Amino acid sequence: MKNDTRENFGSKLGAVLAAAGSAVGLGNIWRFPIETGQNGGAAFIIVYIACVLLLGIPIMMSEFFIGRHTHTNTAGAYRKLAPGTQWKWVGRLGVLSGFVILSYYSVVAGWTAEYTVLAVGNCFEGKGPDTFPAIFGEFVSNPWKPLVWMFAFMIVTHVIVVRGVKGGIEKFSKVMMPALFVIMLVLTVCSVMLPGASEGLEFLLKPDFGKITGSTVLSAMGQAFFSLSLGLGCLCTYGSYFRSDTNIGKTALNVALIDTFVAVMSGFIIFPAVFNAGYAISSNDIGPSLLFITMPNVFQQAFGSMPVLSYLVSVLFYFLLVVAALTSTISMHEVVTAYVSEEFGMNRRRAAAIVTVACSVVGVFCSLSFGPLDGARLFGMSLFDLFDYVASNIFLPVGGMFVSIFTGWYLDKRLMRDEITNHGTLRVPYLRLVVFILRYFAPIAIGVILFNQLGLFRLF
Ligand code: TRP
Repeated sequence: MKNDTRENFGSKLGAVLAAAGSAVGLGNIWRFPIETGQNGGAAFIIVYIACVLLLGIPIMMSEFFIGRHTHTNTAGAYRKLAPGTQWKWVGRLGVLSGFVILSYYSVVAGWTAEYTVLAVGNCFEGKGPDTFPAIFGEFVSNPWKPLVWMFAFMIVTHVIVVRGVKGGIEKFSKVMMPALFVIMLVLTVCSVMLPGASEGLEFLLKPDFGKITGSTVLSAMGQAFFSLSLGLGCLCTYGSYFRSDTNIGKTALNVALIDTFVAVMSGFIIFPAVFNAGYAISSNDIGPSLLFITMPNVFQQAFGSMPVLSYLVSVLFYFLLVVAALTSTISMHEVVTAYVSEEFGMNRRRAAAIVTVACSVVGVFCSLSFGPLDGARLFGMSLFDLFDYVASNIFLPVGGMFVSIFTGWYLDKRLMRDEITNHGTLRVPYLRLVVFILRYFAPIAIGVILFNQLGLFRLF
């Protein structure tokens, strides 16, 4: 597509919501509570928020303006801004991360689809907290059911990517995102009022800083990148659709605020429910099942006396979760497809098909690691956990580190200033702070956290 004929987001709100659609997903509602549970609660949340503010927002601004300036996807952006250099490897690393994350993400996305169907079939009614772990366990260990859902999810993602991301995504996000927001707000109020909720609230609000270790900090940073869709080039693509008067700093701030708010809300929905149901909270017991065993319990406990309401809320919640997951899988698939199509000079349809098939094959192994391949371990982790760990805690931060070095050191400083201030038409009082973070703070902080944990040296 030529630059001048490229479509843009119709409104500023549309731009924010579409980027937020990529950011808000299973990372907030499924992964954030798991990480919070495994890493000790309140203290983890504080480190997480610090990572969002100090690393997430400046790096998000970089991805946005690289995209808007070059009017192209990540791989193409590095080719345009740094032709003939090795910077293209940053784009390639992003593509690899997208491929890996998409493969296991669609497994969990498939679970949300199964749970939507269970909710529609009213399968949770009248059941107690003891039954939900078994329902989940039976489902994920079934050799074919999760696979069918994963394939279904991949195919829907595929079809949307082939048709072009732009068309519907803005309209879609404009309706679905606020709907998800409202239903989560309702669920937060319900959950906080459950008997036994206070223990959950204490877990979320009373920090025990003694629990912060190198691995906690790495997990918080990984979660921040994962949740904000950073380090992979997704937001570059969205930035490429921004209009020239879009305020990049404000947009990044808004997306980060929405994303963090949804994540924290998920914590406030899930942890009171965990304590209410009497599920164990020790870090070994908290895993991928958390969302799927606590939520049916919330619907039963909070609306038990009003079965119609309980039914409607559960159907709506899982359905919106499917939609939130879909807007995220689309954004990742798009990055990989755009790369394959441009790098190997094939049309989008073909490139997308290759990506879909390859991700599905890898996804099969991720899915089976909850069933028939349960015992298989690599570096002490199941394939699913290993992919999740490596992609979020290593690939994404490394990608983010290079993005900050690229904008902070390689690019002409004027370019960054022009993009952030829209060629001097915006007053951006925090410009110097952003430049400082991108040049010094982000690369050093990410490097120290990574190397510390990977054992190259130990500071904390
Ligand atoms: N941020 C999304 C979520 O929270 C997942 C996601 C979409 C993502 N695009 C990404 C994660 C790019 C990392 C990089 O569910």
